[in-house]
Amino acid sequence: MKSTSDFLKMKNQGEKIAMITAYDYPAAKFSEQAGVDMILVGDSLGMVVLGYDSTLPVTVDDMIHHAKAVRRGAKETFMVVDMPFGSYHGDLNDTLKTAVKMMQETGADALKLEGAGDVAKAIEKLTNTGIPVVAHLGLQPQLANVLGGYKVQGKTAEQAMRLIKEAKECEEAGACAVVLECIPHQLTEAVTKELAIPTIGIGAGPSADGQVLVFHDLLTFGGHHIPKFVESFAFVGEEIERGISNYTAAVKDNSFPTLKHSFTMKDEELTRVYG
Ligand code: KIV
Ligand code: NA
Repeated sequence: MKSTSDFLKMKNQGEKIAMITAYDYPAAKFSEQAGVDMILVGDSLGMVVLGYDSTLPVTVDDMIHHAKAVRRGAKETFMVVDMPFGSYHGDLNDTLKTAVKMMQETGADALKLEGAGDVAKAIEKLTNTGIPVVAHLGLQPQLANVLGGYKVQGKTAEQAMRLIKEAKECEEAGACAVVLECIPHQLTEAVTKELAIPTIGIGAGPSADGQVLVFHDLLTFGGHHIPKFVESFAFVGEEIERGISNYTAAVKDNSFPTLKHSFTMKDEELTRVYG
């Protein structure tokens, strides 16, 4: 399993970090077999697997439930788990208690928190306790209601300078990496140069030290909205729909099951039943 120091080394050697989200056992297993460097159990699971229209309804118990399944499927891959909405903004000791519970129950290698400022204090507290933290700046989906939706962040000089400051703040607080979501590519380049820790981009252009995409987005799997910055690397949803339609038709026209799919009783046993 790679560690936070391996990711630092990858940044310094210019080797890109490939990260993907996963929410269950098969997705984790496929991701590990495919050789991704990091798996994120993202609170995006609220939208792509639970069918909510934002990440806000996702609970700590939801995150733990899914992260445990992911850990069982990917024992050898660095696993980051999102702390969900509202679980790290109160008293720092409550945040630590929740973080410790999430680490202990899931076997996570790191937790991810959105934001800086007060959140940087939480990053510091967790890091000092021995919990690696990935920061998350730019578009913070847990703030969508305050930001007025899912919009590109950091487009003005003021916003860009603030984001660079926040990124440094997270690094100083001890963050082991920072996710940059939906920001102009030039800003990603600036932050990536400015920081010693790796940047991991999503909708943030090519110059981040790594990239992360949502499993269901990059595989075109599911009925949810897919953001503009995503590339489709496969069309799994179409294939699933085809499979289920074929199955339904086969049941209805009696072509499935056949004796090939059935169990057989020996004739002498059958005779004993019917005489
Ligand atoms: O929850 C998630 O999937 C994320 C990524 C988009 C970075 O936080
Ligand atoms: Na998230």
